Amino acid sequence: MDKILVHGGRSLEGEVRIGGSKNSALPILAATLLTRERCVIERVPDLSDIHYMLTILSQLGCEVERASGVVQVRAEKILTEAPYEIVRKMRASVCVLGPLLGREKAAKVSLPGGCVIGDRPIDLHLKGFEALGAKVTVKGGDILLQATELKGAKINLRGRHGPTVLGTGNIMMAAVLATGTTVIEGAAEEPEVVDLANFLIAMGANISGAGTQHIEIEGVKELHGASHSVIPDRIEAGTFLVAGAIAGKKVTIRRTNPNHLGAVIEALGNAGFDLSHTQDSVTVSPNGARHPLHLETIPYPGFPTDMQAQFCALLSTMDGTSVVTETVFPQRFMHIAELKRMGADIILDDHHATIHGVDRLSGAPVMASDLRASAALVLAALRADGVTEINRVYHIDRGYERIDEKLNALGAHIERVKV
Ligand code: EPZ
Repeated sequence: MDKILVHGGRSLEGEVRIGGSKNSALPILAATLLTRERCVIERVPDLSDIHYMLTILSQLGCEVERASGVVQVRAEKILTEAPYEIVRKMRASVCVLGPLLGREKAAKVSLPGGCVIGDRPIDLHLKGFEALGAKVTVKGGDILLQATELKGAKINLRGRHGPTVLGTGNIMMAAVLATGTTVIEGAAEEPEVVDLANFLIAMGANISGAGTQHIEIEGVKELHGASHSVIPDRIEAGTFLVAGAIAGKKVTIRRTNPNHLGAVIEALGNAGFDLSHTQDSVTVSPNGARHPLHLETIPYPGFPTDMQAQFCALLSTMDGTSVVTETVFPQRFMHIAELKRMGADIILDDHHATIHGVDRLSGAPVMASDLRASAALVLAALRADGVTEINRVYHIDRGYERIDEKLNALGAHIERVKV
């Protein structure tokens, strides 16, 4: 298990290239199960979560080849049972349910465990599968899906915390080969859902409305192989923009899509930072002003829950009192206790964090927990006095490709230590 040592107080300057989106690549790789023909997926990030997905595909019988950022998958003959050992490590494994049901009319995947950001039910996924005609059984910790035929249906996927991103993807993947038309109301509007729909359309699916809350899927007989390049990772991009804000003179992120970063760019602007962008880059630089914020995480295009922890780190060092409200995963505050160990002044009350900015944070040994909370600790450490030791760095490696090397290239001083 590696740990990283962040020597704080250095200022960042320069450019960083953003990788392909983890949360787009995962369902797109699962979607390759829907055809017997070869698919070529480009700009796949080198992350442990991606490795888990490729292992699941291999164990389902797919031929999988990876050469740097390009993954080729051929699912000529497949099994329908995903192995518990891998599935338990990554909740997103549930997104193989839709394609397995869609193609083989059967699937057996272990129920995802809980995780530190809170309860992660999949009731909306299962509701959608049942609406399409699948028999859903939960037995021995596994989800069993069986169907003689899948028929198009009208399904509302909105839950009490809003739409479901992977649920929308799962139902799309189950519906593309169903008989007739499926309408998803209350669909997630995230760019990753649009990217998945675009890949399915390239495979021959008939989908309209992706990116809105109303998606229509006209079932087709079969899908063919296709090539696709994954969209840039908007959360990696946002994380590096916050790095530039918290410790930067002037940082530019390249190979990104500013249209996916609207809420993040707006929040940084409201906090007093100068932002400029081109078609595929965004530049952030401090201009002396540093204002507190009132932020609330909501589904896309609102402020993303996956950027909440990173902004808590930034706001801990800003003037005044900020309030951050988490509505998507109300318990997603594992980073707060660790930030307080670094001297942050934060009061947590239910799903609201009230943050009184302090001049300086101080380095301390802290514990990474979930992916984004861990990134937040790295960001806070960039600005802290002294050295911050971050343990359990594997959490960060799940979603960030070489974050320490990329930050060091901007001027940070981060050491990765094997323990
Ligand atoms: C995706 O998770 C992302 N993961 C998450 O990113 C992200 O935080 C989340 O969407 C929200 O944007 C991937 O894409 C791999 P949801 P997902 O279903 O699809 C509730 C990261 O850091 N819900 O949109 O699993 C759920 O509890 C990860 O990269 C139900 O109630 O999230 C939550 O409160 C973390 N029933 C809300 O909906 C369901 O059946 C949104 O969850 C499904 C979800």
